[in-house]
Amino acid sequence: MQKFNEAVSYLKTAYPHIPEVGIVLGSGLGNFSDEVEVEKEISYDQVPHFPVSTVEGHKGKLIFGNLSGKKVVCMAGRFHFYEGYDAEQVVFPIRVMKLLGIKALLLSNAAGGVNPDFKVGDLMIITDHVSFFTSNPLIGKNISEFGTRFPDMSEPYKKELIQKAKTIAKRLGIVLREGVYYGVTGPTFETRAEYKLVHALGGDAVGMSTVQECIAANHIGLPVFAMSVITDIGIREDENKITHEEVLQAAKAAEPHFAAMFREMVKEI
Ligand code: HPA
Repeated sequence: MQKFNEAVSYLKTAYPHIPEVGIVLGSGLGNFSDEVEVEKEISYDQVPHFPVSTVEGHKGKLIFGNLSGKKVVCMAGRFHFYEGYDAEQVVFPIRVMKLLGIKALLLSNAAGGVNPDFKVGDLMIITDHVSFFTSNPLIGKNISEFGTRFPDMSEPYKKELIQKAKTIAKRLGIVLREGVYYGVTGPTFETRAEYKLVHALGGDAVGMSTVQECIAANHIGLPVFAMSVITDIGIREDENKITHEEVLQAAKAAEPHFAAMFREMVKEI
């Protein structure tokens, strides 16, 4: 707890307002932070005990400010298990944002589609997830200040927020998919056989983030809404090499709709 308290007290001194909503921006979705009327930016390496991003030229920062009439904190850059952090480090910022006072968490990511109906550029509301393949961030001594030893995960993504998103999408004329997100460690993209297996096991999309953050948020009683941008279709049988550049490009192309959704979600939460 001491590490958390030190991080939180540093941030509270640097930014004296209480953010209401926390937002995590996934690969290729970082430009969303332009939507925020920025009041304070703090790079991760300045915050006591924050993990430091390993991705070169991309430090990662917390952006505090106003969006849709609310105080928000945005994570531009998140921590992934494949970077070598343990699962507990991956979720450190989520717990810090909760301690800063956020009442809801919006997560986003780029994901591979394994539902044959999906197309590149689709937005998918995450209705549920499978995280058997990734390390659970709650392994180890339970931090009872945060939550119970055996947290319920029957509603990892809040139904009420999913309903709000559907209503917003209808109003804006945005087509949304919904489905189950399969968490994997990466950093390799999946083999053709793995994409098929993920689909056979009930997944609609597969990705390398989000599930650990969602678990930590549920542990600490923080309502979660999450959306994937489908950036590639893994189960296609034709010549289908997947590159990081293609993922980033597809996420960028989907950004206007993604941004409209998150803007409205913040307004209505
Ligand atoms: N697999 C895993 N993670 C991803 C993918 C994928 O196909 N696309 C974007 N992130």
